Amino acid sequence: MPIAEGAVSDLFSRPLFFSLYDWFIEHGSVYKLAFGPKAFVVVSDPIVARHILRENAFSYDKGVLADILEPIMGKGLIPADFDTWKLRRKVIAPGFHALYLEAMVKVFTQCSERSILKIEELLEGEDLHGKKTVELDLEAEFSSLALDIIGLGVFNYDFGSVTKESPVIKAVYGALFEAEHRSTFYVPYWKFPLARWLVPRQRKFQKDLKVINECLDGLIRNAKETRQETDVEKLQQRDYSNLKDASLLRFLVDMRGADVDDRQLRDDLMTMLIAGHETTAAVLTWAVFLLAQNPSKMKKAQAEIDQVLGQGRLTFELIKQLKYIRLIVVESLRLYPQPPLLIRRSLKPDVLPGGYKGDKDGYAIPAGTDIFVSVYNLHRSPYFWDNPNEFEPERFLVTRNNDGIEGWSGFDPSRSPGALYPNEIISDFAFLPFGGGPRKCVGDQFALMESTIALTLLLQKFEVELRGSPEEVELVTGATIHTKNGLWCRLKKRSDVH
Ligand code: HEM
Repeated sequence: MPIAEGAVSDLFSRPLFFSLYDWFIEHGSVYKLAFGPKAFVVVSDPIVARHILRENAFSYDKGVLADILEPIMGKGLIPADFDTWKLRRKVIAPGFHALYLEAMVKVFTQCSERSILKIEELLEGEDLHGKKTVELDLEAEFSSLALDIIGLGVFNYDFGSVTKESPVIKAVYGALFEAEHRSTFYVPYWKFPLARWLVPRQRKFQKDLKVINECLDGLIRNAKETRQETDVEKLQQRDYSNLKDASLLRFLVDMRGADVDDRQLRDDLMTMLIAGHETTAAVLTWAVFLLAQNPSKMKKAQAEIDQVLGQGRLTFELIKQLKYIRLIVVESLRLYPQPPLLIRRSLKPDVLPGGYKGDKDGYAIPAGTDIFVSVYNLHRSPYFWDNPNEFEPERFLVTRNNDGIEGWSGFDPSRSPGALYPNEIISDFAFLPFGGGPRKCVGDQFALMESTIALTLLLQKFEVELRGSPEEVELVTGATIHTKNGLWCRLKKRSDVH
């Protein structure tokens, strides 16, 4: 296997996924990255990715990632051992039923409208001073919006973070910050004996977790105490129409009875809170960043929005007509995948299949091999995409044959009939914004729909431009790709709003 020798400075001078991309072009689609005694196998090939994530998925666990997340998420789906994962996945996945998602359209819309109202009020304030524009860090706004949505959609709790601060919100951000810090640190310092008591940051982290856990425990208690047979019947029939609380927690408590283990429920909720918050905020951030640099695509998006929303308030049916917006969301995920790397560790010896370039025989790997599946490299691979670094939402409409690439079946939008958004199936693992195989994201449709609605309602009302140049928007990365100092934009009311 080709070896890329990394200098430690590569880890800190710029986001790691940039260096992984340069080495991919230099060394091919499977290479070993060695940092002193530590080594990772870096995979940038759809056939090998498909093998690890789907065909041989149960020969791999989450490795380093589970070490990082276990203290926060406990036995939640992401870090859980296989036995727990199997049980909980079976219980949680049905909660994301199509009718639940339809019920969520209202939550996504109402929360987005709160953000829009806030911007309108800020604009009115500026108007009094004769200014027609307002400057805002949209990344921060999207973060608040996504937090409010995940709170209401998953456990029927209104953080109200778009308009206020609270100890729980502060604790959530504190815990996220620590999770982020841990994921960029390669020494598990938090495991040192007494660290949780002696290191001030660790003490704060324990305090933040306690605040969040108490909040979640209260919600779980409440959900159990208010369990009503009429709601259970409605949920059994997937009738969300008159349910006061359509949240996932309600589903998990009602469908499983009051005997479901509180600790496990709390781990599940915490996992979804963390997995579904920054990721969605990041998609919206990069979608706006890309659109602001492509005014003609922004105009095309707004024309579609005016045409569709001219028919009335957003509904599940109308989302189906927002075809261009949906492609913008997935194209943003292609260019800025969240997270940019998927992490695995082999549980037993395995042989990776041959990749498409030069290494047809594949490689044997021993048990305990740490692997990065670089989604960033796959999504920007010059071997699978035309103009890979360009923002071209329309690209997903085009069928591509396999260009003679053995083992890869090409890119065919018709392969996933009925899917509202392009996915890993149509691209045979060249595009995997939500992973693939049994550990694929459970919240993918929730997140896509939420992003589509938030982007639609924002662009319907405002013209958005970057405050400075795109180059000033520096990238940093932990679990997600985000900006160093915010996505500062200038917003004004659209003059041609319908
Ligand atoms: C797993 C991405 C939103 C819950 C994953 C994975 C990816 C991903 C790539 C697979 C990780 C791996 O294989 O190692 C995203 C992105 C999102 C998003 C890009 C937003 C745009 C959400 C939301 C929720 C959620 C909204 C919940 C409400 C989960 C859970 C898992 C997961 C529970 C673990 C699944 C399992 O192991 O069975 N996500 N996610 N995600 N995601 Fe998401």
